[in-house]
Amino acid sequence: MKEVILLLHPVFGVLAILAAVWVFVEALNVSESGSSASRLRIASVLCAVCVWLTYIIGGYWYVRYYGTDKAIIKAGPWAFGHNFFMEVKEHVFLTLVLLSTYLPIVAFGKITSNKAARKVVLWVAGLVVAIGLSMEGAGSIISTSVRIGLLFKGQGG
Ligand code: HEM
Repeated sequence: MKEVILLLHPVFGVLAILAAVWVFVEALNVSESGSSASRLRIASVLCAVCVWLTYIIGGYWYVRYYGTDKAIIKAGPWAFGHNFFMEVKEHVFLTLVLLSTYLPIVAFGKITSNKAARKVVLWVAGLVVAIGLSMEGAGSIISTSVRIGLLFKGQGG
């Protein structure tokens, strides 16, 4: 069950990134006449829900289980995996929570008639994709740091 919790958070994280890509693509040619506006709004809500699920599940893992891995990382040759990447990840992620929560708020506005609102949707969706991908990258460096820490420990380090 422990490992399922660990892997569920990147699953929802990546689904949030895909939903933001969907919002971005729909926003490029959105019109009220077709169903693109309603698709965009559905994708924006999906994005927000997936980011919040990532936050709750990732946060639960961090509080409940990460302490052991943190000690292994800090005692190993890739201590930067925690000291830099995890520290940056847990702080920068908060901007993702704010941006993804804001996305449906602006998406349910007059995005077809208001060019400025459409630009905000494009920028917010784009930022969610960029920050989400950096979370993914940081996550894989952190878990690699755990593996390297375990190998180092196994070699009597
Ligand atoms: C878009 C959001 C996020 C994505 C895409 C993401 C992705 C990942 C990935 C791919 C891993 C490596 C998993 C493995 O192979 O073992 C990981 C590890 C980790 N993530 Fe995230 N993550 C996200 C958000 C968060 C949040 C919000 C937290 C909690 C504050 C968090 C805490 C962690 C921790 C503690 C690890 C290390 C797990 C360990 O080995 O102990 N992540 N993340």
